[in-house]
Amino acid sequence: MSICELKNITKIYSVGEQIIPVKNISFEINSGDFISIQGDSGTGKSTLLMIIGGLLKPSSGSIIYQGKDITNYKEDNLAEHRGKNIGFLFQNVQLCEALTIEQNIILAKKYSGNNEISQEDIQFVMNELGILDKRNFLPHQLSGGQKRRAMIATTWIRNPSLILADEPTNDLDHHWATKVFSLFCDWVSKGKAIVFVTHNDDWSNYATKKFHLNNGALTKI
Ligand SMILES: Nc1ncnc2c1ncn2[C@@H]1O[C@H](COP(=O)(O)OP(=O)(O)OP(=O)(O)O)[C@@H](O)[C@H]1O
Ligand SMILES: [Mg+2]
Repeated sequence: MSICELKNITKIYSVGEQIIPVKNISFEINSGDFISIQGDSGTGKSTLLMIIGGLLKPSSGSIIYQGKDITNYKEDNLAEHRGKNIGFLFQNVQLCEALTIEQNIILAKKYSGNNEISQEDIQFVMNELGILDKRNFLPHQLSGGQKRRAMIATTWIRNPSLILADEPTNDLDHHWATKVFSLFCDWVSKGKAIVFVTHNDDWSNYATKKFHLNNGALTKI
């Protein structure tokens, strides 16, 4: 089943010189897809993930999400779409600094439009990611790897259909990076789709479809 389709997507940044990191890319993401994107630093991998996730408007082309053309959605509708459907694991950890780890996870759950918050589920997710003892800590009181696992918890609890993971193993030691990839395998086996960016072949080997981004073009490898 198609989750997201990109049709002829181009992105032009015009700050001083023009940069075109994404050139006429067409690409389909289906339920159960586990997709890796590799490419040199500065080629446009994060740009592409943000376009797929509706955080950044393409300069041209269209994005179809579960059959609906979301390209020209107004910000309110886009925010609702992202909250309901998209899980972002950003390259740099994003958490609300004024809230505890547990409150961040509860906020994320509310953002998905689902107000049925089960304390049991929240505890389970925190425990699986080894941050249960940090539940009442603020983000700045956690280590880099603990913060990244807390961000993963905020995505897990929301149960999105598409997860966009930008270098998700950053800050993690081998044990936790392997745990995160085993979670990803479990999620795709349940019909979610995951698109992740990595610089490391160990992790791209988990993918069932591998792509390389270079000069604005996405090539299957
Ligand atoms: N908001 C922006 N305005 C102008 N240029 C931008 C903007 N965001 C990114 N760029 C430029 O677009 C290019 C692609 O950036 P992007 O962050 O997508 O690369 P990347 O492949 O994710 O790199 P890395 O592997 O280092 O994370 C870079 O040259 C960057 O400077
Ligand atoms: Mg990047």
